[in-house]
Amino acid sequence: MQNNVLILDFGSQYTQLIARRVRELNIFCEIKPYNKLPENLEEFKAVILSGSPFSTLSEEAPHPDLSRIKGHKPMLAICYGAQYIAHFGGGNVAPSNTREYGRAKLAHIQADPFFKGVQPDSQVWMSHSDTIQQLPEGAELLASTHDVTNAAYKIASQNIYGIQFHPEVYHTKEGTTILRNFLVDIAGLEQNWTPDAFVETTVAELKEEIGNDKVILGLSGGVDSTVAAVLLHKAIGNHLHCIFVNNGLLRKNEFEDVLDQYEHMGLNVKGVDASARFLDALAGVEDPEAKRKAIGRVFIEVFDDEAHKVEDARWLGQGTIYPDRIESVSATGGPSATIKSHHNVGGLPDYMKLKVVEPLKMLFKDEVRRVGASLGIPDERLGRHPFPGPGLGIRILGEVTREKVAILQEVDHIFIRGLQEWGLYDKVWQAGAMLLPVNSVGVMGDERTYEKCVALRAVESTDGMTADWVNLPYDFLQKTSNDIINKVPGVNRVVYDISSKPPATIEWE
Ligand code: XMP
Repeated sequence: MQNNVLILDFGSQYTQLIARRVRELNIFCEIKPYNKLPENLEEFKAVILSGSPFSTLSEEAPHPDLSRIKGHKPMLAICYGAQYIAHFGGGNVAPSNTREYGRAKLAHIQADPFFKGVQPDSQVWMSHSDTIQQLPEGAELLASTHDVTNAAYKIASQNIYGIQFHPEVYHTKEGTTILRNFLVDIAGLEQNWTPDAFVETTVAELKEEIGNDKVILGLSGGVDSTVAAVLLHKAIGNHLHCIFVNNGLLRKNEFEDVLDQYEHMGLNVKGVDASARFLDALAGVEDPEAKRKAIGRVFIEVFDDEAHKVEDARWLGQGTIYPDRIESVSATGGPSATIKSHHNVGGLPDYMKLKVVEPLKMLFKDEVRRVGASLGIPDERLGRHPFPGPGLGIRILGEVTREKVAILQEVDHIFIRGLQEWGLYDKVWQAGAMLLPVNSVGVMGDERTYEKCVALRAVESTDGMTADWVNLPYDFLQKTSNDIINKVPGVNRVVYDISSKPPATIEWE
């Protein structure tokens, strides 16, 4: 990949945001941990240093050797990056005695291509506890804020720009202009990373890589596997064999509807109804992680059986995307605890000896959608809410039975169709219903009932890592609750989940 920007990650919470902003400018970039400079360093035309939770003054702070970059490539050093360049370049960094977090306004902006088109007084976002007291050698001051004298500097002889604020965050009003100025005007990068260009080069690469071999790919109905399949199909046609498994835990009518849609898209897809195998394996299993394991295990068995029916398959196609692969820099150094084992479909048994092809491995989720649109995939498929691999299996608390699945499918259907009809579906990141393992007393007509309770959940999020509940209109909730209780036998109570993540999670199991 030519025309590429390297983002060196020092563990900032905003590193992925830097990459997304760069990509939004139609410029390709990759994130690498600060201590693993890529072997093909010469192919990168510019380098961005991220922020960091560390203080450059601390012993444990990342102190990589940047001598192969400094002075050789245009460099933008953000926050910690700017302090790092100052600290090791003859300047002085010290803990700051004023609070420097949140909004600030630039002042005294010098005339420089870096700030071209940026208004005086422009709002920027600060998030740091050290400050640059003295600029590094050879540096000139480019801008200050009310509290921070050295908010931006330039070392002209080395083509380095250091900024204390974060151009990647939304609250830095002209952050995109500043990034564009650096990347396009100063570093000379071309803005040619577009969805159409991606499709064209990827299809050509896939043709080259796969040749006349056959590829098998598991479709889930989700955005990533669908876009991966359509890209591969464009490259190798019916040598791509897609498998779409009904695990009996899908939404109402989803298996038939999605299969139909895939066939309309021209994909060579086989639908495999393995509901009974999954539901049998779940009999008597109550623990959420045990359920995930059982579903994952049966999926691999079913997929394996089907894959063996495709003679001479050499490759396994997967819809892996970039955030799944970025090696993260841990601020604590320790492994994080497993809250839920999300990636239950962890791959195929080794003996299948398939090579793996991942056409989306360099894309962020929003880019996958844009590529999907450029491939002509219907909006309905691209805008679909995320749906977990184990499906309704982790939305039925406790043991999963056929009867419970049938109840939850009806409830979910009423809720999701309602969101669509009320124009709320696209305003919500993810929504679903949970079947709770409690019965409660109700009254219908003159009869006492003792039936199930369901919880509705709708959240706003950007990546599922954090989420907040959505303030759905009361009228909508009222109508949905009535519909559910009147139309779904066995349910006499509906509640709405108003917990954020953290401390709750999106799914209940
Ligand atoms: P949580 O419940 O951890 O969910 O807040 C975050 C996102 O992950 C999805 N999720 C899963 N996806 N297998 C999946 O493929 C799983 O086991 C799984 N568990 C949760 C969840 O739907 C949400 O989008």
